[in-house]
This record gives sequence, structure tokens and C-alpha cells, in this order.
Amino acid sequence: MKLNLKIWRQQDAQSKGKMTNYTLDGVEGDMSFLEMLDVLNEQLINKGEEPVVFDHDCREGICGSCSLMINGEPHGPDRMVTTCQLHMRKFNDGDTIVIEPFRAKAFPVIKDLMVDRSSFDRIQQAGGYVSVNTSGNTQDANAIPIEKENADDAFYAAACIGCGACVAACKNASAMLFTSAKVSQYALLPQGQVEATERVQNMVRQMDLEGFGNCTNTGACEVECPKGISLENIARMNREYYSASTKG
Ligand code: SF4
Ligand code: FES
Repeated sequence: MKLNLKIWRQQDAQSKGKMTNYTLDGVEGDMSFLEMLDVLNEQLINKGEEPVVFDHDCREGICGSCSLMINGEPHGPDRMVTTCQLHMRKFNDGDTIVIEPFRAKAFPVIKDLMVDRSSFDRIQQAGGYVSVNTSGNTQDANAIPIEKENADDAFYAAACIGCGACVAACKNASAMLFTSAKVSQYALLPQGQVEATERVQNMVRQMDLEGFGNCTNTGACEVECPKGISLENIARMNREYYSASTKG
């Protein structure tokens, strides 16, 4: 395949960026999207030009690092896959592909296609954990009975990889799907009850402090999420937040 690539190039957070055109020949359908960018970068390096900076780590859909807006969709045209799992067979010879970073005020561009998502880390640090007594008297988690439905829903919420596609897809750049997945993961389990009131309040406060927008129930986040995180988690977080507020 021969492709026309329009790629966002930006020196750093302060500089103004612009779209740059590249033509790439010899792209195989079995290549992943990131492998296609590797080929482009190899050619740029051989020509003495600066390679395109993009984020990646595991390349198997687990770490949530790869964050590209491809033809206006976070992680591209396929469903339930991350950019590293997207294959070039989804595109056709002669296609023009527009590649941009995830865009949100709370995700400033570091360089080219790489954005700073440490705002997600700070939301997680505000309450996305359980405090465990490790004095030797810790109860074995397997000894605590948990209803199957709750265990399943907690597991599905815990599948969130923190990629940020939900934010990039949202017209308000809201982080509600991400934050609600992290809140739900604990709200559904007995281990999460002790700190439940502070958790939801602190995580929502941090989410607002980071400059993410509000949820207006558009649902684009759920459509673009590579891990199928459900909007039900947002409803659950709202209930948790209301309940925490009424406790004072
Ligand atoms: S909710 Fe989905 S889209 Fe949002 S960060 Fe988690 S895995 Fe990514
Ligand atoms: S590189 Fe880890 S999820 Fe894509």
C-alpha cells in the first residue's frame, strides 16, 4: 500500500504545531499502525530528518500508552482495540490518514503526537487505592464472599487501561468514564467500602482541578473506549458522589 500521511508536528508544549505531509510506500496489511510509523521514522532518520515522536510501551493493548487520534477517532476506525492493535489492513492503498495527538487542555502536548497524561495519575493518586493493614493480620481476599454480579462488574471496571481515549472522544474533554471506572472498581467490592466516601469526593475534586470538562451524556467515550468501559460506571460514580455528599 502507498499512503498519504498528514501528521501533527509540534516541537514542544509552547511551540505552535502544524500538519506535515508524508508519502509512505510498501505498507503491509499485517503491520500494526505503530509498525507503520516505525517504518516512516526509519526513513526519516536515514534522510537525516527528525523522527515523529509518539507514545508506546507494551504494544499489546495493556499499558494504555499509545494515544493517537486517527482520522478523527481515538485509536482509529476499529472497535475495542488500542492503536498498537490496529492493523493496516483496515486501510486501503492510496488512503490519506490524518494522525493527531489526543487533544484536551488537561493533556498538554509534549512533542508531536505525545501528550502528558499525568493528570490521570493525579486522579488515581487522589483515591484510586485501598489502604491495607499489613501487620500480619490481613484477611485473605479469597475468604471474603462477593456476589458474582458485583465481582464481574468490578472486574470489567478494572479493565480500564487509562489510555485517555474517552477524554479525546468527548466534546467536553471529560474524564468521567476513566474516573468512574476507577471509583467503580472499589465501590463494588467490600474492600473498597472503608474509604468510599473520601475516595469519590477526592477523585472528582482532582478531576475538576485538572481542567477536564463535565459529562453531558453524549456517550462518545463508551463508543471509543478500547476496553468497553460502560457508561453505567458514570451513573454509579454519580450515585456514590451523591451519597458521599449527603453524609457531609
Ligand atoms: S475508560 Fe476506556 S477510554 Fe477511558 S481511559 Fe479507561 S480504557 Fe481508556
Ligand atoms: S502500547 Fe500499550 S496499549 Fe498500546
